[in-house]
Amino acid sequence: MTDHANTMWGGRFAAGPDAIMEAINASIGFDRRLAQQDIAGSRAHAAMLAATGIITDSDADEIRKGLLTVLSEIEGGTFPFSAALEDIHMNVEARLKEIVGEAAGRLHTARSRNDQVAVDFRLWVRDQCDAADAALAAVQKALLGQAEAGADWVMPGFTHLQVAQPVTWGHHMLAYVEMLGRDRSRFADARKRMNLSPLGAAALAGTSFPIDREMTAAALGFDGPMANSLDAVSDRDFALEFLSAASICAMHLSRLAEELVIWSSAQFRFVKMSDKWSTGSSIMPQKRNPDAAELIRAKIGRIFGANVALMTVMKGLPLTYSKDMQEDKEQVFDAADNLMLALAAMAGMVADMSANRDALRAAAATGFSTATDLADWLVRELGLPFREAHHVTGSLVAMAEDAGCDLPDLTLAQMHSVHEGIRQDVFDVLGVENSVASRTSVGGTSPVRVREAIAQWQKQLG
Ligand code: ARG
Repeated sequence: MTDHANTMWGGRFAAGPDAIMEAINASIGFDRRLAQQDIAGSRAHAAMLAATGIITDSDADEIRKGLLTVLSEIEGGTFPFSAALEDIHMNVEARLKEIVGEAAGRLHTARSRNDQVAVDFRLWVRDQCDAADAALAAVQKALLGQAEAGADWVMPGFTHLQVAQPVTWGHHMLAYVEMLGRDRSRFADARKRMNLSPLGAAALAGTSFPIDREMTAAALGFDGPMANSLDAVSDRDFALEFLSAASICAMHLSRLAEELVIWSSAQFRFVKMSDKWSTGSSIMPQKRNPDAAELIRAKIGRIFGANVALMTVMKGLPLTYSKDMQEDKEQVFDAADNLMLALAAMAGMVADMSANRDALRAAAATGFSTATDLADWLVRELGLPFREAHHVTGSLVAMAEDAGCDLPDLTLAQMHSVHEGIRQDVFDVLGVENSVASRTSVGGTSPVRVREAIAQWQKQLG
């Protein structure tokens, strides 16, 4: 039990809060992560208050110097955080008062914690959009390195996790480079939309002081002030956009991670993780487990969970601010931390892994992977309608299956028993190298196309 009334609003209160009240109410345990943004916001606000004549230059100067001291205390780990002071905003202000005295009391003129927290959190999430962009670029570069090394290496392409058609390793790596490129554009897009300043909305209605919102917006790197004060203090869609982009990105990472788990198994042996990115078993000496890939695969759980949690917190809240909204931060912090960790791990793991060219090539030739090439040959060379060609090829696949061999192992005589027109040169298209080389359509898997795409991405990623 705190037995004194709060110094920030104690005027109306005779007693302090119950201990449990303090526990449920305080956010300082987590929103201390907003300290730097909070101080930046306060510095911009104080400078504006002085520029507009709302406070004196000397008060603004005291405030500015005091805030720098507070910042260095926080960075140096000596700042006396207090749960009784609830959150980062009141912790900073109370300490400022201890340092500079009366001038500190003028800082909160024409401002509320409602616009203050909205500014702080926007600035924090904005930084995370930039961090996600840089981390995604690093994963793209690692994938591009893999694509370059094996631009024309043949591997099976899958549908339903069944061998479908031969593709190239470079093409498969580039598929993820594309996905992550769209993730980057989603973060960039969200960043652009969130880059407007809520500062000056005050509690909810704006203020009667002659503030300059353009000035504070510019000082904080925003494109301008938000247009509606009610909206400014009450929406968290910017955080939800970050979480949505993060969820989609984590989903992409999860798919790649899943492939790496499958590919590094003894059954596939498509890739080998380096020692740095593998773990052993405490009982089975032969094991090399892809734990990092598995954990990346799992991160989508908490990241999408945060998205659902915050969406649910915000749903049905009447305008404007409600304390419910304090629940936004831990979700976003956790999602951002784990996304960054997953991206860093993926970049390191992909850069370090080695693809097994022979295993990829051998697997590519299984599962009648060139059946489509055979059907296409029947269309192109014999003029069969595709549906009939499909049927003829199906019969040949069944024949090979019965004989326990692959398509190129059938004799011409065997093929003639299904269709008399088939010629010796059909065997050219049954090889996996020829198959991939023939897929030169835009966006296709042919090494020619893959090398073009690699060159494009190299230019883009620098
Ligand atoms: N700690 C609060 C939050 O994170 C700051 C805003 C408090 N505003 C208020 N009206 N109680 O949302």
